[in-house]
Amino acid sequence: MPDTKQSKSTSDDKNPSLHLLRAEYSQRNEREAAIDTEFRELNKEFLSILGDRAWNWDMQVLLKRQVLSRLLHYYEVYKLILPVPGVILEFGVQWGATLATLTSLRGMFEPYNHARKIVGFDTFEGFASVSDQDLDFSKSGQYTVEAGYEKKLDLILSMHEELAPISHIKKFELIKGDACETVPRYIQSNPHLIIACAIFDFDIYKPTKAAIDAVLPRLTKGSVLVFDELNCKHFPGETQALIECLGLNNLRLICNPHQPYTSYAIYEG
Ligand SMILES: C[S@@+](CC[C@H](N)C(=O)[O-])C[C@H]1O[C@@H](n2cnc3c(N)ncnc32)[C@H](O)[C@@H]1O
Repeated sequence: MPDTKQSKSTSDDKNPSLHLLRAEYSQRNEREAAIDTEFRELNKEFLSILGDRAWNWDMQVLLKRQVLSRLLHYYEVYKLILPVPGVILEFGVQWGATLATLTSLRGMFEPYNHARKIVGFDTFEGFASVSDQDLDFSKSGQYTVEAGYEKKLDLILSMHEELAPISHIKKFELIKGDACETVPRYIQSNPHLIIACAIFDFDIYKPTKAAIDAVLPRLTKGSVLVFDELNCKHFPGETQALIECLGLNNLRLICNPHQPYTSYAIYEG
């Protein structure tokens, strides 16, 4: 996940370049960090000089490879979902970058599939709590967004929907609160729900385990499970939750060569 905040050094003798970027560990070097800052400044400058209508298009000049990789990842994932009935659930929304991407992909691939609802779950106040399984890497409250952001995101996603047909049918939902409670409750109160795709991006153990347990009975053979932090030293809780709920041996995980910790599996029952 891209992060534009200033980096803070951590002492790691084996890997002196390891940095904590807000809640996320990064190994980008000083030049990369400097380019990030330069792009950020150019971004502000461009906004004031680019034409009113083409600004969004021309901003691609500042789109980094890492962000493009992320977009292409979800492009590939979305194609796998197409033959599968049901909704897309994203566990961990933060600023909504992935939800916005998924909304656009739905508009591109299946603009008339109004049953392809996209639902995002988040506290919008950062990690609710961390567990022993997360070791010492994560802290409660990390990944928080500005107060009330979910309302702004609702508006943003509505506008993305308006750029595709049948936008009078709202096809997304944001569920605020601790996922350990909201996810099982949401699934229970929607007895019709089939899950075509579940994206696990809480990073940490407890809500990931709660979400995997809750979605399992609603998967069909072919449902796509996406994990954002598997095999990641700094977020061991996600791998632990997967091992406990499903078992690594029962899934054929496919990694993304451009996103080292991101993988997906097609559920086979
Ligand atoms: C890495 S961010 C998600 C990034 C997002 N998927 C994207 O692609 O931009 C992780 C999110 O999980 C949320 N989260 C962690 N624990 C949670 C919990 N128990 N309940 C709800 N949300 C939680 C955090 O608030 C944070 O916004």
